[in-house]
Amino acid sequence: MTEARAAAVADAAQPPTASALEEVLVLDFGGQYSQLIARRIRECGVFAELLPATTSVEAIRERKPKGLVLSGGPASVYEPGAPEFPSQLLDLDIPMLGICYGMQVMVQALGGRVEGAESGEFGRAELTLRGDGGRLLGGLPENQSCWMSHRDSVFEPPSGFRALASTPGSPVAACESPERGLYGIQFHPEVVHTPYGTEVLTRFLREIAGCEQQWSPQSVIAEQVAAVRAQVGEGRAICGLSGGVDSSVAALLVHRAIGERLTCVFVDHGLMRLNEAEQVVAAFEQFGIPLVHVEAEERFLAKLAGVEDPESKRKIIGGEFIRVFEEEAAKLEDASFLVQGTLYSDVIESGGSESAATIKSHHNVGGLPEDLEFELVEPLRMLFKDEVRAVGAELGLPERMVWRQPFPGPGLGIRIVGGEVTKERLDILRAADAILQEEIRAAGLYRELWQSFCVLPVVRSVGVQGDERSYAYPIVIRAVTSDDAMTADWARLPYDLLEKVSNRIINEIRDVNRVALDISSKPPATIEWE
Ligand code: XMP
Repeated sequence: MTEARAAAVADAAQPPTASALEEVLVLDFGGQYSQLIARRIRECGVFAELLPATTSVEAIRERKPKGLVLSGGPASVYEPGAPEFPSQLLDLDIPMLGICYGMQVMVQALGGRVEGAESGEFGRAELTLRGDGGRLLGGLPENQSCWMSHRDSVFEPPSGFRALASTPGSPVAACESPERGLYGIQFHPEVVHTPYGTEVLTRFLREIAGCEQQWSPQSVIAEQVAAVRAQVGEGRAICGLSGGVDSSVAALLVHRAIGERLTCVFVDHGLMRLNEAEQVVAAFEQFGIPLVHVEAEERFLAKLAGVEDPESKRKIIGGEFIRVFEEEAAKLEDASFLVQGTLYSDVIESGGSESAATIKSHHNVGGLPEDLEFELVEPLRMLFKDEVRAVGAELGLPERMVWRQPFPGPGLGIRIVGGEVTKERLDILRAADAILQEEIRAAGLYRELWQSFCVLPVVRSVGVQGDERSYAYPIVIRAVTSDDAMTADWARLPYDLLEKVSNRIINEIRDVNRVALDISSKPPATIEWE
């Protein structure tokens, strides 16, 4: 909890219970799973934040964390320049759990023996407890599987430590010195392939660090409502809605904090999916949130007339969006705060939580220019996407909006490819997309897919419908699975489902006579076609 957050909580009309203030810090040594460690700890009901391993001991002391976790990392402890164990942390007397590199660096600094083994240990490994498993692992099955990813191994724990377990490639796969509050595990408790991982983390959090596990969507809401009240005071705020879960949840939270002093602006560029604009408007009306619904389809289509180049389309849509938003913002003269749905992953990507507030810009048509003179309000800055969904559900956001798949800011504008974006083509694409969405939902697959959508290539091919030859557009189905959109795989949709979607699209939409399926992964393809 930062000072600002702690102060905000203290100011709250109804402060959350004291234990909502408890937190664990994850010191990041650069491991591929560091974020996941923080997520898992939060899933165990304890707020966790990721900080660089180089964070000063003073800064850590001020946060008064209940526990510290040292993450894994790619380095080898004895290679020159490898990140070091911040040994002053020992003076803080805070329980510490080292994971993988985090354990090795601790063990080496305290006089244990870490060496490169003949071969590394990657993937599933059989873990065997030594003795009773000690405080950290006691009571867990004597043999269990765990997930490993390391080259170096601990061969001897430091004096005063006890070895708790081993695997074929790790003589000391876990060790502890409960008297000093120091614990280490070579395996990764945060990945699902370590079946007892959550139990190990919970044991560290609850029994060793004494956490009360009260981090929950309700405590997030209480805390953020208090923080927003403290920040905005009697001021007024404005929030641009995209229809996506992030901006919707941010708006709902801020509305709960400052009521009608929040005005939402929804710029409907006419490039949304079927009925989506109506759903956004209805949801916000239901909550009684002041909403300016700007129906700007004609304006956007006029700007897009004759434009075929993908980047030009993006620029035009993005630029026009900003212009419309600015016009509306100018009408709300006394609003000096701008609400943004920035997520924790955006914060980490843009250099960590200590860096200055950055407006979410990656790929985001809603990214507003920096010279807009607003103070940012970012109530989701500390949340992962799944936590945002949980908070949204708790706030009563309709299920459809809570679980909405990501949708690009330029909308269907970048799904009409190789040609101009026209109203006629948008209507065809919208109709096809609606059929795909409906059937995917009916098959119960919507939440399993990262994204699913249709693309309209501006070409025509020959078909035969009835006794006539047709010359109509194809529709391409794109459905992918992914964790973060950086990489993606094409979804193996069932043939029956594909058949139904294809039949419906061709039968119900006059201007389509062919349906194709995109079976490319990212890389080398991208998720969108433009
Ligand atoms: P690609 O196509 O690069 O997309 O694999 C990765 C993710 O970003 C989304 N995307 C966009 N989002 N404006 C946005 O707001 C854009 O111009 C844009 N282009 C791609 C895409 O839907 C996927 O989730």
